[in-house]
Amino acid sequence: LVVVIDFGGQYNQLVARRVRECNVYCEIYSYKTELEKIKALRPKGIILTGGPNSCYEEGAPTYTRELFESGIPVLGLCYGAQLMMHVLGGKVEKAPVREYGKTEVRIDREDSPIFSEVEASTICWMSHFDYISKVAPGFEITAHTKDCPVAAAEDADRNLYAIQFHPEVLHTEKGTQMLWNFVRKVCDCSGDWKMDSFVRDSVEQIRKKVGNGRVLCALSGGVDSSVAAVLLSKAVGEQLTCVFVDHGLLRKDEGDEVEAVFGEKGQYDLNFIRVNAQERFYQKLAGVSEPEQKRKIIGEEFIRVFEEEAKKIGAVEFLVQGTIYPDVVESGVGGESVVIKSHHNVGGLPDYVDFKEIIEPLRDLFKDEVRKAGLELGIPEHLVFRQPFPGPGLGIRIIGEVTAEKVRIVQEADAIYREEIAKAGIAREIGQYFAALTNMRSVGVMGDERTYDYAVALRAVNTIDFMTAEAAELPWEVLQKVTSRIINEVNHVNRVLYDVTSKPPGTIEFE
Ligand code: XMP
Repeated sequence: LVVVIDFGGQYNQLVARRVRECNVYCEIYSYKTELEKIKALRPKGIILTGGPNSCYEEGAPTYTRELFESGIPVLGLCYGAQLMMHVLGGKVEKAPVREYGKTEVRIDREDSPIFSEVEASTICWMSHFDYISKVAPGFEITAHTKDCPVAAAEDADRNLYAIQFHPEVLHTEKGTQMLWNFVRKVCDCSGDWKMDSFVRDSVEQIRKKVGNGRVLCALSGGVDSSVAAVLLSKAVGEQLTCVFVDHGLLRKDEGDEVEAVFGEKGQYDLNFIRVNAQERFYQKLAGVSEPEQKRKIIGEEFIRVFEEEAKKIGAVEFLVQGTIYPDVVESGVGGESVVIKSHHNVGGLPDYVDFKEIIEPLRDLFKDEVRKAGLELGIPEHLVFRQPFPGPGLGIRIIGEVTAEKVRIVQEADAIYREEIAKAGIAREIGQYFAALTNMRSVGVMGDERTYDYAVALRAVNTIDFMTAEAAELPWEVLQKVTSRIINEVNHVNRVLYDVTSKPPGTIEFE
């Protein structure tokens, strides 16, 4: 195990993912976690992440000096590197030149274990306004750039390493190699964290935990819950019942498609129950336009439907949820990032839910790892590589109040958009794409008539981890074709807009 200590930087999850790509398991903890607790995890190495603060300012996130005296290898990245120097007696100040973006770094010590297999000159990703002006006693400078005298430093005797740039970002050409060098060579991790062992261990753990108990699983048809359900079915077979709530906020025909795969006629033995709860959700959402409130209503109603279903089934000891690691961290539960949106499935469980325990078998996995687990479990590729769909569904792709009519509009527009992207053969190249309904109506002309109708927004983003994203450059012909079809085929839409905002400052979804 490698522990990543989170100081609130935007690439922190990437650090964890890169470490896992070296087949080394790692977890993220807040910098507020006490050293004793971290030590009890018996990590083979610790990585301190970047963060938005200046370590010399009062009240800035810090960590006890004892961490660096514990004998556990420590790698500090950006803020983490500055903090290491600051705490150990070096000097950190505002840099005369702020470095941002791709920068050439020159390695001064080629025998540094961190730079093994890295050329003397390599490109790295810089993003800092403070810099290390003097290294702490015992440290040696191992790399520099034009404007930054200490791009990396180390005290190999104490196993302490500091890197000013971001090896976790793919723009750092040899970044993955550097992290590999740290976790596999310096920390001596064996690198045996793999998906087949994850599946095997999980099945075993679930069996042990569940015993003869009955298990209820929330199946949405998305990648996460499908993988969770199949994993559970492999572990406890007949004891599992899967409930699929059609909340009326799914994509066009999605309810039937989910039923076709997981229902009685499908290939799995899941005790599948479909609940058609559309009307209930629409009623609860009537008149509500505030995004967080909509999310809460949908989440709570979901839980109630389950509760009712569970009662019908009889005593149920366990509830399965498809929560994955980014959900946990982005909701501010595991890490330091502020709450941007309250994610469906996480932290929103009201106390009155009457299950003995919640099982979240994917809680420690990133999305691409969930997909690998899915393939390992033999789930068909078209399901495994499905694009993500948020728990609250179209509820957060309709800006403002949700009505049955608006759901129909966005379902149809979205279906056309997806169809044309598939036809153009570019589906796999885009991270996520969908249509949303803006709450705006505008004037148009159709035939000789004036229209006053809705505007549909199209979104397509490329992203590695869904924490940051760029708008995808869709071919103009595809956009034109989609626009013309939506306007001609979907009633009450007279305008189509393409969203070119990146994340940040936008988010991927509209609410
Ligand atoms: P945002 O809009 O926060 O979305 O940039 C990032 C990714 O998360 C998905 N998303 C959700 N997934 N429950 C989910 O399971 C949710 O409540 C939720 N909200 C957003 C979104 O589709 C994107 O992939």
